[in-house]
Amino acid sequence: MTRLVDVDPLDPDPRILEDAARVLRAGGLVAIPTETVYGLAAIATSSSATARIFEAKGRPAGNPLIVHASDLDHARRYAATWPITADRLARRWWPGPLTLVIPKRDEIPDVVTAGRGSVALRVPAAAIARRLIEVCGSPIAAPSANRSMGVSPTDARHVLEDLDGRVDLILDAGPCIIGLESTVIDLTTDPPRLLRPGAITLAQLEATLGRRVADATVKSEPDEGKSLASPGRMSVHYAPRTPTWRAEAGDSCLIDESPARWGMLVLGPLESFVARASAAPCEEIRLGSPDLAARELYRSLRDLDARGLDDLLIIAPPRTPEWAAVRDRIERASRPLSERRPRRPVSPLEA
Ligand code: TXA
Ligand code: MG
Repeated sequence: MTRLVDVDPLDPDPRILEDAARVLRAGGLVAIPTETVYGLAAIATSSSATARIFEAKGRPAGNPLIVHASDLDHARRYAATWPITADRLARRWWPGPLTLVIPKRDEIPDVVTAGRGSVALRVPAAAIARRLIEVCGSPIAAPSANRSMGVSPTDARHVLEDLDGRVDLILDAGPCIIGLESTVIDLTTDPPRLLRPGAITLAQLEATLGRRVADATVKSEPDEGKSLASPGRMSVHYAPRTPTWRAEAGDSCLIDESPARWGMLVLGPLESFVARASAAPCEEIRLGSPDLAARELYRSLRDLDARGLDDLLIIAPPRTPEWAAVRDRIERASRPLSERRPRRPVSPLEA
């Protein structure tokens, strides 16, 4: 049975944290709010507890988890080495939405790192997450608390939709402030490599390090998995169930397949887009700035997905640095509109 408990994000009740810590120590799973998205937490040093995360999410065993620590010194304990690059980034950006991939210590079991010699470490900004780690006295492994390949949860309700009966306790602290997963940087390579864009940008990482960071976030082939630096980076990863397409500025297309019902998520300019024919009723959500889009993207995709529409269309934002993280998630949630084949006409006998 899944229990849902309200928690004050700024001043979490110690009794609730103790309750959550008890569940975790017993090998259970607790969904926790962070500033980015809700995480599905288990004690990171326990092979059996962390194995339950993979089971609950339906996550492939080859996709490693992020280990969350309460502060910099705590995180360092699980790193085999602590390069100057890690120190600079951690001192500048922790606690916050940045994950560092570092050679791991033996205390972190293979199931967490999918057999890799490196571990992804993060100190979250959200007070609930850090206090819970302190109360547990152990680091916690936590991927996003959604079913594998689905849209990440930015609200406790999303976790319940995806994982009811699969998670012991959900701590509900309201919507997440940032709304997209943390930036992930691999510090085991030279130069360091950006594996996932997030609220902390490539330019900010380079400024902190005073050196170039390679961008490894270019979209990979749909059928990859094994050879990737960050195996979670599947081509279509954060996808709604409704077929989802994206149009770039300058694309044009006429959606006139009555009675198709489209949902539309508008993040870029619509001017050049010859889309809305009168025959196609549209449910439309507009997110005009990068911060707003980051915060509301997953909720909007889930809301549109729940309306039983035929197709979703995302008008993509520009390819500029401030939109990089949002664009990355959109590219993984959708296919180019040019790949869409018109729906088969419905014959009068079927109609
Ligand atoms: O904001 C976040 O990072 C959220 C919250 C809950 O902290 N967590 C999250 O976890 O997004 P998850 O599991 O959904 O994404 C973790 C990403 C995956 O792309 C995974 O492949 C990568 O980090 N990763 C984890 N360990 C790695 C490692 N040792 N080497 C390379 N990539 C790694
Ligand atoms: Mg995830």
